[in-house]
Amino acid sequence: MASRPGTGRRMSAVRELDVALGARSYPIWIGRNLLQDAARWRRAIRGRHVLVVSNTTVAPLYLDAVLAGLSGLQQASLVLPDGEQHKTLDRCAEALGALATLKANRDACVIALGGGVIGDLAGFAAACWMRGVDFLQIPTTLLAQVDSSVGGKTGVNLPAGKNLVGAFHQPRAVVIDTGTLATLPEREYRSGLAEVVKYGAIGDAEFFDWLEREADALAARDSDAVAEAIARSCLHKAGVVARDEREDGERALLNFGHTFGHALETASGYGQLLHGEAVAIGMRLAARLSSDLGRAPAADADRLATLMQRLGLPVDLPAGSDADALLQLMYLDKKNLSGCLRLILWRGIGAAEIVPDVTDAAILQRLRSG
Ligand code: NAD
Ligand code: GLY
Repeated sequence: MASRPGTGRRMSAVRELDVALGARSYPIWIGRNLLQDAARWRRAIRGRHVLVVSNTTVAPLYLDAVLAGLSGLQQASLVLPDGEQHKTLDRCAEALGALATLKANRDACVIALGGGVIGDLAGFAAACWMRGVDFLQIPTTLLAQVDSSVGGKTGVNLPAGKNLVGAFHQPRAVVIDTGTLATLPEREYRSGLAEVVKYGAIGDAEFFDWLEREADALAARDSDAVAEAIARSCLHKAGVVARDEREDGERALLNFGHTFGHALETASGYGQLLHGEAVAIGMRLAARLSSDLGRAPAADADRLATLMQRLGLPVDLPAGSDADALLQLMYLDKKNLSGCLRLILWRGIGAAEIVPDVTDAAILQRLRSG
């Protein structure tokens, strides 16, 4: 079991959670200035060879601090160009080449320093090198801190679609230095808040209430509120991953709003809508579709929209959205089985569910109504 943020082990204001996966269990540390606290996270490195993978935006800000913590080890760093378009097999091959140059052994460790793009790519390189070596997640976006760094989904994109090649490969530890958010652009920060709202929406009504109370503090990046939101999000995700690592059931609920969201991201062209922005619009669509189908109170969809608006997130479909085109894109979602659409809907705040049999007509009607 993961420990509660309020009651779990606290060491000088560092919160420690646990992703409970038996012999592969690992800690999530959350605190300020953790990058400088190498004595803590170096324990997770077992061998002598370490490759740090980052990008051209994050490396100038934080790479030196990480490298300083690795003194005495055989270390190398790889700084990739910034952007989702570089989450490719070719860039992953660069990371594997860097491991080869380092003469990395099977006890090597890859450190992912950056947002979800770097985390997914570096984690996949670690999964591939010598059939799998250790990796450490040091996430520096809010989205990566509350979602992508936890749970072991790694991978890269293909021209045919996002995240089509990948592996489940759990990190050895997740090091969340909340101080790194100070340099994160406002829009990226708000986009990450959408994933925070998701945890309340899908499974924790009390957390949703807390988010409503703390919305202004979160929008203003109050450090205590942000740290608490990260800890509660990680606690939720750690629990889901411990119970359903390979997404045979409950883990699919984490995709609330994502089937609509991914379709929107693709339809609008990557980069137009950030992931969290598309997910926010998608969550509202999923909530309203649930009400259309008589599964959930309409008032809960309104509460969700109000909270997201207070956090500076969009909730309406972009003008000119093509409902038919969006529906076709939804059929490409990885959650679908045997060509049938499986949607994550809800019974109301805190109660998401998998619904395999929503008709195209109902979805189209909702997409046309916005
Ligand atoms: P990102 O990694 O592209 O980061 C967003 C931007 O912020 C980039 O320009 C990055 O360089 C910059 N940045 C990162 N940290 C910064 C900092 N501290 N200060 C200043 N700038 C900083 O995007 P993201 O939103 O973090 O992640 C999106 C990716 O995550 C997608 O590829 C998505 O598929 C993946 N993802 C994976 C999972 C999973 O479970 N593995 C879950 C959700 C999303
Ligand atoms: N972000 C969804 C998952 O990790 O399953």
